[in-house]
Amino acid sequence: MANLSTVVLIGLPLVSLYFQFAVSAGTGTGIPLGGNCKTNVSCSTNISNSGCKDKICQCTAMFYRQNNKCVDKIGLGLACTTTKPCKDVNADCKGNCTCKQSFYKDTICKPRIQPNHKCGSITPKNASCIDHAYCNSTSFCVCDKGYKGASCSSAMTMAAVEISTIILCLMMVYFEVFK
Ligand SMILES: *[C@@H]1O[C@H](CO)[C@@H](O)[C@H](O)[C@H]1NC(C)=O
Repeated sequence: MANLSTVVLIGLPLVSLYFQFAVSAGTGTGIPLGGNCKTNVSCSTNISNSGCKDKICQCTAMFYRQNNKCVDKIGLGLACTTTKPCKDVNADCKGNCTCKQSFYKDTICKPRIQPNHKCGSITPKNASCIDHAYCNSTSFCVCDKGYKGASCSSAMTMAAVEISTIILCLMMVYFEVFK
């Protein structure tokens, strides 16, 4: 029969080891961030905004991992880094979280508006329209002078496309495709 001193000798280090892990992981019960999991339930219940994804306990989409916590990702216009990522999926980190080229900044990054559609409700309204378009007096995006079509391409580009079509037709005639 084990005497008291044996129990204390073996038991105490085990208890302290348990606490060391539990406290250093900051998790209480469950698998900490980065650990393998099968279901949400197996991940630590003490870490808000985390869950089991791709069999790893990790932060949900709008949060990023900082030590053993899930922290809010960075909003539009605010300072970000590669380790402090932007919240908006259509934003890039360029010092601050900035909407991607084909998006404009509203409450979120929204796709820039094509001609003959209502401009966005931001200031300046021009910025809500696609490249080579502006917001006219009736609040519709229209192509700049010299640009046309749904993507406001340059008249030169359009002309080049038309000319190449004509050349292709001439070649087909030449090779008697239309015999
Ligand atoms: C929007 O663009 C039009 C056409 O380029 C320009 O005349 C107008 O001044 C611009 N408005 C603003 C607020 O930038």
